[in-house]
Amino acid sequence: MQASFEATLEYAQEQDNIDILFPFRERFRFPQHEGRDVSYFCGNSLGLQPKSVAYLMQQELEDWARFGVEGHFEARNPWFSYHHLFGERLAKIVGAHKDEVVATNTLTVNLHLLMMSFYRPEGKRYKIIMEAGAFPSDQYAVETQVRMYGYDPEDAIIEIKPRDGHYIIEEEDILNAIEAAGDSLALVMFGGVNYYTGQFFDLKIITAAAHRVGAYAGYDLAHAVGNIPLQLHDWNVDFACWCSYKYLNSGPGAVGGIYVHEHHCSNPKIFRLGGWWGNEEKTRFKMEKGFVPQNNAGSWQMSNAPVFNMVAHNASLDIFDKAGMQALREKSEHLTAYMEWLLKQITHLPFEIITPSQSHRRGCQLSLLFSDRGREVFDKLTENGVVADWREPNVIRIAPVPLYNTYEDCYRFYEILNSIK
Ligand SMILES: Cc1ncc(COP(=O)(O)O)c(C=O)c1O
Repeated sequence: MQASFEATLEYAQEQDNIDILFPFRERFRFPQHEGRDVSYFCGNSLGLQPKSVAYLMQQELEDWARFGVEGHFEARNPWFSYHHLFGERLAKIVGAHKDEVVATNTLTVNLHLLMMSFYRPEGKRYKIIMEAGAFPSDQYAVETQVRMYGYDPEDAIIEIKPRDGHYIIEEEDILNAIEAAGDSLALVMFGGVNYYTGQFFDLKIITAAAHRVGAYAGYDLAHAVGNIPLQLHDWNVDFACWCSYKYLNSGPGAVGGIYVHEHHCSNPKIFRLGGWWGNEEKTRFKMEKGFVPQNNAGSWQMSNAPVFNMVAHNASLDIFDKAGMQALREKSEHLTAYMEWLLKQITHLPFEIITPSQSHRRGCQLSLLFSDRGREVFDKLTENGVVADWREPNVIRIAPVPLYNTYEDCYRFYEILNSIK
């Protein structure tokens, strides 16, 4: 496949012409640079705005003005049940049943809430395995959870590192660490895709290994959701959470999401912190004593749905539904392979790609590690209308997103990078 790639504008445009997802680009608003769309490669940080958001937001404003409090039941999308708009579409994206997912809260909050349920250290089972170099918010969440139960993070948290001189964590090392921790292990908590390297972990085998030693497995899917097709239910994953402002294009600080396997949802012994929106819907307004959690992922909700924070989510999930995760993934693998191939044609700049080269071990992101001049190159890209992102100390991350990026975008990026002397 790779042998047929070409570093020409004509080739890139031909690929766009035969790309069935190409028209989806039209559904998004692009920031402008000198009168034209920027080359946007930052969907791994903040996805672009679907054009339909403005209309849908206006609809909620009108319904609020028109109905006041009655909008909870009279609005075109009644606010009382607004969160029910998302179950089916989210379930398709993460490979779950619709009752196993809910759009609620935000990512780090959800991670804490889920750890309140699935990290219940007792006796000698109190350790947590996570990846070294996890996103700081995950590190802080895990650190403070173990402290809350009186453990020393140095002892209770086992971090799995890449081998010396490598950037990628070998799955074999994760599995060996799980086995070695044995019955001291309470939880495996990994990022699905590492934010820095772009490595996608094999969640199925990690989950199975955790279960073999009697531990739970839960994942932060911030960089995986909407990027890689997942099968959380079939992989027997216990829980997961994600944000929706990256690949799910739902806007800054937008609502997060939760998945919990159905056998935990319906198990009353799984502890969950209570709030009225997690209570049985039928008795929610009876104002009676005694929290009765729903028997689905909705029971991890706390408060009533933040409707304005969910409007873009609604708009974006519609687009995902029309495009379909499988088609997106097919394009994504080819588009990222093209970008990788183009980058490999550039030999005069001091960088290497640290993202795995096998497509099953990555999503769309590529991470370029610079041994020198990284920040300077990044600034030049920005001056030339490229939006990428810079991660300290020396990585430029670029994400060709199959929903709105084109082969021409990749070619233009290559052309600009190649012109930096
Ligand atoms: C992997 C990962 N985890 C956690 C977070 C924090 O998310 P939030 O601020 O929505 O809690 C981020 C934010 O970018 C992230 O990339």
